[in-house]
Amino acid sequence: MDLGLQDRIALVTGASSGLGWAAARELAREGCKVALCSRSETRIRQAAARIAVETGVAEDRLLPLVCDVREEAQIVQVIEQVVAHWGQLNILVTNAGGPPAGYIGDFTADDWRAALELNLLSTINLCRHALPHLRQAARKPNGLARILMITSISAKQPIPNLYLSNAARAGVQGFAKSLAEELGPEGITVNTLLPGYTRTERLAELARLQQQRTGRSVEEIEASWAEQAALKRLGEPEEFAAAVVFLASARASYITGVALPVDGGRSKHLL
Ligand SMILES: NC(=O)c1ccc[n+]([C@@H]2O[C@H](COP(=O)([O-])OP(=O)(O)OC[C@H]3O[C@@H](n4cnc5c(N)ncnc54)[C@H](OP(=O)(O)O)[C@@H]3O)[C@@H](O)[C@H]2O)c1
Repeated sequence: MDLGLQDRIALVTGASSGLGWAAARELAREGCKVALCSRSETRIRQAAARIAVETGVAEDRLLPLVCDVREEAQIVQVIEQVVAHWGQLNILVTNAGGPPAGYIGDFTADDWRAALELNLLSTINLCRHALPHLRQAARKPNGLARILMITSISAKQPIPNLYLSNAARAGVQGFAKSLAEELGPEGITVNTLLPGYTRTERLAELARLQQQRTGRSVEEIEASWAEQAALKRLGEPEEFAAAVVFLASARASYITGVALPVDGGRSKHLL
């Protein structure tokens, strides 16, 4: 299937590791020119170099940039850098790290503010500032403009010890649905992707924290997560990235406003 992604310009945030990195790699493999960013210049440069080695894509088709998505000024700058470098922006993939785990008594008002800045406001600000460029891209002949937001399965089915994530992701869903409705007439699609338990640094950290709290081994904790999925295993980042690539593609032209779980069948609700 030709996905129609050749030479499209993508920006993936939070892309030095994990799901963001895997998404950037697969978009590059499918022909996109990919700008990828994270807070660390060293890590993001290494991440771009690893993509070039693994995919055989030329390094000049990858643009590693520094951006802390909690900072609006850095978002403005990173989007300007992408457009100055490649002339346009077709695909925005919003992503960042996850907030700390814990229950209601574990967090102060500042913790709540920080989580909302990391996972909700960052998404809103990235979309706000990318939008003029996405609108231009959509208006071109054979144009393509996509917004994809990486959130969490906790948006559909809250996870007991992830209060901060549960609340922030629900906000992203409301924002995404509003944006999909408004941008639909312009041919810009807006979708969210909801990972279930997928092998990344973040998941390893969550397992270590649970180990400290409960005394269970990391293997037991991972097995209990795997057991929740219909497929009885954890996901791999490349499985998640395949869904990102499809929703970014020209072939996904009639899919918008969707919250797609990529969770091996962990969610048990009908719709
Ligand atoms: N893996 C899972 O099982 C799973 C399940 C559900 C939801 N999620 C969610 O999916 C998202 C990605 O998770 P992951 O597992 O891929 O996590 P990860 O392996 O920890 O990767 C997070 C990435 O985000 C970057 N990052 C963190 N804070 C940032 C910031 N303020 N600005 C810009 N970049 C930032 C990190 O890079 P630097 O450190 O270099 O900045 C890193 O590249 C998270 O929101 C996570 O909560 C993951």
